[in-house]
Amino acid sequence: MTSTPERLQAPEGKSRLIRHFEKSSIEKHNDAWTDLWDTDNSDMWDRGKPSPALIDLLEQREDILGPIAADGRRKTVLGCGKGYDVVMLALHGFDVVGLEISQKGVSAAEEYAATELKMPEEHNFGGSWTSKHERGSVSFIKGDFFKSDSADGKKFDVIYDYTFLCALHPTMRSQWASRMADLLIPGGLLVCLEFPLFKDPDHPGPPWPLQGVHWNLLAEGGDGIMYPPTSDQKGDLGRVNFERKWYIKPERSYESGQGADMLSVYARK
Ligand SMILES: C[S@@+](CC[C@H](N)C(=O)[O-])C[C@H]1O[C@@H](n2cnc3c(N)ncnc32)[C@H](O)[C@@H]1O
Repeated sequence: MTSTPERLQAPEGKSRLIRHFEKSSIEKHNDAWTDLWDTDNSDMWDRGKPSPALIDLLEQREDILGPIAADGRRKTVLGCGKGYDVVMLALHGFDVVGLEISQKGVSAAEEYAATELKMPEEHNFGGSWTSKHERGSVSFIKGDFFKSDSADGKKFDVIYDYTFLCALHPTMRSQWASRMADLLIPGGLLVCLEFPLFKDPDHPGPPWPLQGVHWNLLAEGGDGIMYPPTSDQKGDLGRVNFERKWYIKPERSYESGQGADMLSVYARK
């Protein structure tokens, strides 16, 4: 059993979420997430709406994620929770697959999608955007992101990550990066809303502080464990599967990350 190193444990004033994960070993974190869903505790992270930063990226920077690929609409996968971003991306013309470990989470997402697609709320769109694309499809898979068959063998040309990397214990980060490389087609894009960047690097999670983590993992081939530094942190060029194409400070983001969040877009080599 791997225990959480002392230096990664929580200081006083820790949140309910941190206390919940302190109680379980790293190997049992999947069960710990499922347990939170099963006991109706998804309010600990649920923001109740899709990401304003992703909406603005889609609508204002069509040079990045659009135009829609010739072989059909582009497919996207998320560690998706209730599916707000899955539905919003479909409303912008993408065929979207949401991946989630919890069956209850998948059921909540299916219910949200059924209602929202019938009568989409304004929060799915920016101010003056009018759709040029037909609505895409929505589906959800219950599965473990880290299992090689979790996405039914599918590969994706866009993957969006928000509060998935920061939900994982730091020792899982290099596996997160390899799995992203497996799931993307060459040239495919990994879009990350980097959060939380304001949190001290030695504070515990989830959400685990991510200052410098995406760059270290994806551009430097490091293990993404920024605190305390490890011998593997400097990186290994053999593991560099990504190139950062865009790094954008979004004008709008969720309140919890407003002014600090960054959007990074990495291309799979
Ligand atoms: C912090 S929540 C964020 C959810 C979503 N991105 C949102 O903003 O509402 C992390 C989610 O990842 C799911 N999750 C955790 N580990 C997972 C895994 N190994 N595979 C798939 N989903 C996982 C959890 O059940 C939870 O719904």
